Amino acid sequence: MPFNHNDHYHPLLLDLLPPGPGIALDVGCGTGRFARRLAATGMAVEAVDVSAAMVEAAAGLGSPGPGEIVYRQADVTTDALPEAHYDYISCLASLHHMPFETLAKLRRALVPGGVLVVLGLARPSTPVDWARAIAAVPVNALARLVVYAGERLNGGPEDGPKAPVVDDFPTMAEVRREAARLLPGSTVRPLFFWRTLITYREHGVGDPTGG
Ligand SMILES: C[S@@+](CC[C@H](N)C(=O)[O-])C[C@H]1O[C@@H](n2cnc3c(N)ncnc32)[C@H](O)[C@@H]1O
Repeated sequence: MPFNHNDHYHPLLLDLLPPGPGIALDVGCGTGRFARRLAATGMAVEAVDVSAAMVEAAAGLGSPGPGEIVYRQADVTTDALPEAHYDYISCLASLHHMPFETLAKLRRALVPGGVLVVLGLARPSTPVDWARAIAAVPVNALARLVVYAGERLNGGPEDGPKAPVVDDFPTMAEVRREAARLLPGSTVRPLFFWRTLITYREHGVGDPTGG
């Protein structure tokens, strides 16, 4: 596997866990790499993905514990998520597969004080965004080379199902606008390697979408 831009940010996302073990939801879990990291912190993890192949592969890899992981095939846009239930909801490289309104649903699923983190892909909007995107190109090439060399030394890359690909990403400006609308008080942080991070803590007052 080449250098994985999403996995690179796992430690940052784990730094945003609320205190206590609690219940986590990983949306668009893929083969479950982040779900397993959440379980390793002691959280009880529900990991959902619309792809049956992804869920099967993830479930086959088990859980490192101590937290239990329940994998479930579901389309999170139509699934009846429980309200005020999760202490932590993560959505890694998945939001661009769904309408932005999904954020309002994820918000409602948080307990007061719960945290939603959305690691997303976005196209540059400003000259600063463009500079950051261009600067990532040589660093990415170097990182890929290092990972490739490591894989060769360890007997080649791991096989597994490929996640469905969507090449149409929102712009940074759209991400900022929709995060402000659907998750008031959230922060949007541009990251290296063409990623953005939306962080939201539920304060438990009303729903801006009226939903
Ligand atoms: C690019 S992959 C990211 C997988 C994983 N989060 C990671 O970081 O490796 C996007 C995942 O979102 C899933 N997905 C897309 N639309 C979805 C939906 N409506 N509900 C649940 N999962 C969805 C896809 O099946 C895919 O596994």
